[in-house]
Amino acid sequence: VDFIVAIDGPAGAGKTTVARELARRLGWRFLDTGAFYRAVALASMERGVLPSDGEGLAEIVPDLDLRQGQSGQMWMRGRDVSMAIRNERVTAIVSEVSAHPEVRAALLEAQRRVAEDGPLVCEGRDMTSVVFPDAQLKLYLDADVRTRAQRRQRELAARGEQVAMEELEKAILARDAQDMGRATAPLRRLEDQIYVDTSAMAQEEVVERLLLLIRERQGAPG
Ligand code: DC
Repeated sequence: VDFIVAIDGPAGAGKTTVARELARRLGWRFLDTGAFYRAVALASMERGVLPSDGEGLAEIVPDLDLRQGQSGQMWMRGRDVSMAIRNERVTAIVSEVSAHPEVRAALLEAQRRVAEDGPLVCEGRDMTSVVFPDAQLKLYLDADVRTRAQRRQRELAARGEQVAMEELEKAILARDAQDMGRATAPLRRLEDQIYVDTSAMAQEEVVERLLLLIRERQGAPG
């Protein structure tokens, strides 16, 4: 069996950046599952399917032909939507979209299939609990709300968008509550995850730490 690193954690903990860099260093596959839910949220806006309509959303998923490139670029029906899925309107509805069991079921197979192509670093909210429960290394990446809001603010500033800290903190807390409070595949801390608080860590430190954990696991029998 190929090695799978499964990373869960709340919005803004740095999962995507860290997972992508880790995969690049190792030459492994990278899977950003949030991007799939974001693409469905974008399609919901574009096609006028309500974010509350789980069945309607699940129905359009096969038609979206969602694909992800090695550095996380997202394609929907051959169109590069990598930028479009990061905008604030998508972010505002993606939690609701992703809470529907029908939507989650529709995306599950595509996520698992990526692991058939070799070792993998994946990140999301239910990687350790639902999608890859047998992963060799399971992690929960966290950071305090202030740090996560600051990171988000910097990201947005880099794109020329100015958003107040208070507003970002509120949005992050609201998304946490939704992602942790839903009935299907909620974000959870589990016994078999290694918990990493990245609040006081530079991105490079986090990557180094995870590389070390992977080497430890690879060296361990079983
Ligand atoms: O990681 P992100 O911010 O791109 O994720 C966007 C939303 O998608 C997040 O608020 C919850 C949902 N999501 C999920 O439910 N399950 C996953 N495995 C990944 C993301």
